[in-house]
Order: sequence, then structure tokens, then C-alpha cells
Amino acid sequence: MNFPSMRVDGKIALVTGAGSGLGQAFAIALAQNGADVIITELPGKESIAEETASQIRDAGRRAMIVPLDVTRVSMIRETVDRVVKDWGRVDILVNNAGINIPRWAVDVSEDDWDKVLDVDLKGTFFMCQAVAKASMIPQNYGKIINIASIMGVTGFYYRAAYCSAKAGVVNLSRVLAVEWATHKIRVNAIGPTFIHTPLTAPMFADKNFYDEVMRRMPLGEIGKPEDVVGAVLYLACPASDLVTGHCLLVDGGWMAW
Ligand SMILES: NC(=O)c1ccc[n+]([C@@H]2O[C@H](COP(=O)([O-])OP(=O)(O)OC[C@H]3O[C@@H](n4cnc5c(N)ncnc54)[C@H](O)[C@@H]3O)[C@@H](O)[C@H]2O)c1
Repeated sequence: MNFPSMRVDGKIALVTGAGSGLGQAFAIALAQNGADVIITELPGKESIAEETASQIRDAGRRAMIVPLDVTRVSMIRETVDRVVKDWGRVDILVNNAGINIPRWAVDVSEDDWDKVLDVDLKGTFFMCQAVAKASMIPQNYGKIINIASIMGVTGFYYRAAYCSAKAGVVNLSRVLAVEWATHKIRVNAIGPTFIHTPLTAPMFADKNFYDEVMRRMPLGEIGKPEDVVGAVLYLACPASDLVTGHCLLVDGGWMAW
């Protein structure tokens, strides 16, 4: 019996915010498992994606660095149309770009709220829409993986905007899964726990916070980006074709109690 592949050979993937942290790991892992990868980074920060591109090429796959600010909807549309024209299609979209502005709820300004929601939720939605319209709907195939967080399924102090945005990403993924199932586009979210990346480095510089997170984490360790790549690869490969509208937690047991 031949079972569906756990690889992504010959697929074309697009990973947003792939110059650092989790996005870098996702892009390289997709390449090591057979995909060519379009990596996007903020305009002016493209150079931080050079290392990602170099490791993709070391894996024998094609890489292209594209400047993209996911808060700018017209830029999303122009960029996606251009990459689809240049590379023919996008099979796998990983919406990874994200920010957090940690604040007590009483201190969150309108500007803080808009910044977080614009990148984490609005950017994710308009990326999904642009890639679906330009490539996935016409080709009747796609795998969309939206990087949410455990903060999308539970609350945590100091994170009103971030938790709201990530909860939106989880439920948005369900809506798109339902709407686009007819086009064979699978839309899922991933909910990582705390992972060591440039995003969390300032948080873990506070030893009290680090100790508190460690106490709450059943597996007793903060994750590394490589701990999350298996979830992305699974949701990107044919073995997960019956999975859509799901949020796969990679949480060290955080949500188990
Ligand atoms: N690190 C964690 O503990 C953790 C846990 C759960 C979820 N996440 C999520 O994983 C994703 C990646 O986080 P990370 O920890 O690797 O952070 P990171 O800061 O290392 O990487 C985020 C990337 O997004 C890019 N980016 C920021 N704003 C952008 C914009 N407007 N347009 C395009 N790109 C933009 C940044 O340049 C950066 O490369 C985020 O969505 C984050 O919310 C992280």
C-alpha cells in the first residue's frame, strides 16, 4: 500500500517574515523537504533573509527574497501577483509575520492595538485572500498555514491586543477552511507555546518572567524554532489532506491543564 507523502517535493512555498526566528526555520525546513521557497521580509530588512536564502539553496532548492510589509494591502496584492507571474504558482502559504507589543490592558494605546492587529490579523487575512485569488483558487489546490499562538486559544496577562489578534487568526482559519474547501485549499493554524526567538528574547531577559513560564510549562522547557517545523511540514504535505480548519498546538503541554 502506498501512503501519502510526508514531503513537499516540487511544491512552491511562500513564507512571510522568513528572515528570523520561526519563519526562517519554516522556510529552510520546507526546502529541505523538497519545496522551492519565496521568502518575504520587511522592506529595508531584506538582508536579514540572506541566511535563510543561502540555506534553502544549500538544500538544492530555489529561493527568492521579496520585500513585503503585510500591513500594506496594495503591496500584498502587487507582490503576490508578481511572484505568481514569475514562479508560476504558490502551493503552500505560511503566514508567519507577526509582532507583539506587551502592555497591561489599561495602557494599550490605539496605536499599539492597530499595529498588532494590522500585522497579525489583517496581514494574515489579506495574504490568504491574495494568494487564494492569484493562485490557489485557479489551480484548485493549496495549503495555507497561519501561525497563531497558544495565545489564540487561551488568555495571558499583558497581551490584550496579541491574544485578540491570534484568536482572530484561529477563527479566520476555520472560516477560510469552510469557504475554500471546494477549491481543495486546506487552511489550518498552528499554536506554538513560548519559543526562543528574537521576539521573545526581551521577555526572557526578565528572570521572573522566565521562571514563571517554566513553572507553567509541563514539559519544562521553552521551545526552539525547530520544535515547530514538524507541524508546518505536516500541514503542508499530502499526509494532512483531510485536515482543515484545525489549530495544531505545539505547546509543551501548556493547554493540557
Ligand atoms: N516566539 C514565540 O514564542 C512565538 C509563540 C507563538 C507564536 N509566535 C508567532 O510566530 C511568528 C514568528 O514569530 P518569531 O518569534 O519568529 O518572531 P520574530 O520577531 O523573530 O520574527 C517575525 C518576523 O516577522 C517580520 N515582520 C514583522 N512585521 C512585519 C510586517 N509588517 N510585514 C512583514 N513582515 C513583518 C519581522 O521582520 C521578522 O522577520 C509570529 O506570528 C509570532 O506571533 C511566536
